Amino acid sequence: MSKKENKNAGDIEERYEFVWPGKKKCIEEAGRECSEKLISDAVNSYLPDTTANLYIEGDNLTALKLLKDEYAEKIKMIYIDPPYNTGSDHIYMDRFTAQEGNNKVNASGRSHAAWCSMIYPRLCTARELMREDGVIFISIDENEEFNLKKICEEIFGEANRVGEVIRKTKSMTADDGCGFNLQHELLLIYAKDKSKLHLKGEKKAFANYSNPDNDPKGDWCAGDPSARSGGPSTYFEIENPYTHKKDLPPSGRYWAFSKESLKRYIEEGKIKFKETYRDNERGFIFKRYKADAKSMNEPVHSLFAVENEFMNQSATVELRKIFGSDVFSYPKPVAYIQKLVQFSTGEGDIILDFFSGSATTAQAVMEQVAEDGLKRNFIMVQLPEEVDKKRDAYKAGFRTLCDVGRERIRLIAERLKDKADCGFKAFRVSEKES
Ligand SMILES: C[S@@+](CC[C@H](N)C(=O)[O-])C[C@H]1O[C@@H](n2cnc3c(N)ncnc32)[C@H](O)[C@@H]1O
Repeated sequence: MSKKENKNAGDIEERYEFVWPGKKKCIEEAGRECSEKLISDAVNSYLPDTTANLYIEGDNLTALKLLKDEYAEKIKMIYIDPPYNTGSDHIYMDRFTAQEGNNKVNASGRSHAAWCSMIYPRLCTARELMREDGVIFISIDENEEFNLKKICEEIFGEANRVGEVIRKTKSMTADDGCGFNLQHELLLIYAKDKSKLHLKGEKKAFANYSNPDNDPKGDWCAGDPSARSGGPSTYFEIENPYTHKKDLPPSGRYWAFSKESLKRYIEEGKIKFKETYRDNERGFIFKRYKADAKSMNEPVHSLFAVENEFMNQSATVELRKIFGSDVFSYPKPVAYIQKLVQFSTGEGDIILDFFSGSATTAQAVMEQVAEDGLKRNFIMVQLPEEVDKKRDAYKAGFRTLCDVGRERIRLIAERLKDKADCGFKAFRVSEKES
């Protein structure tokens, strides 16, 4: 038996930690100062004199570090859709292969370690840009989902995990070989400080509220007058003055108010006695006023994106309508990102996307401003990946993915520029200073 095998359990140092070959190096990379600069790119800017939007061409780790000077703790919402490491042939690179020190690859030649080393320093740096009440949304699929979750738990902390949204990606049935049809992906949500984050879902419909008795407090509906906990002071009979029917709380429960509060509620009209009712009904109504609702919005539902309008196909059709051909692989639907903007931002907020691709996020921000009139601004970052000659994007005259993103913003601006800030100051990350 070798010395190693002979080690007994007591000698093994155990701790819960997520590690991969290259992790130490990428943590150092996150902390390293950079010598590059952001260079103004006047030729590619659009309406630069009147805009607070930015479009940055270059590697996002350097761009994020450079943004810290002006935007540390200023960003309300980050949305990213990083390469998923699918190994498939997209318009952008989507295969992370082994690097020095992390040479273990899976059956299709992809390295999880290389992907982790790519995303880790970027998320660390991005966190520094987030406001205290800021939030980050990260799209991901089954290829790196399990690694991304562990990395996010480490960077943002378990206490700041908000949850995950399921997005239906396709309605087609396909079999992955073992009789399973995968038709969704995830959106991980983390807060900078969950106690300060307030997401607002869809506006509450208040459909069952009305004001049949012209109550001066406005629309109301019948609420539950009982509570799970209480004591002798909240357990008593309530007598209907018209019919003398006496009501007690439901079995095992108490009234949600004391006798003193009951008196006040009757005077104020919050408790209204009925002159007629069915046998199984209470003799009074306990009104719940719309004006007293804690929030005018629903919470954000984790299944909001299972509707067909959020599927990949909608985004492909959308982009085809803008450009006339398929200039990008797997863009996200505008409506999907617009929902995230709507749920998490308001007047004056800045939204950042540092894997911006075809600039769907920029369009989503402009559309939301045009819709609700609340001014917001965006920062897009995109690597100038060259477009292959065989691609539709090349045939349409685009040479890099930045050309595609910037042109999309300009084209959308034709429709929205009277309603939203649709310009952008273009920058490019300079070469490294030697
Ligand atoms: C999945 S796509 C994003 C698509 C985007 N959500 C859309 O709707 O068009 C990922 C993008 O990140 C870009 N990217 C990859 N690595 C990057 C890096 N280091 N810096 C900046 N952009 C990068 C890729 O070129 C690609 O355009």
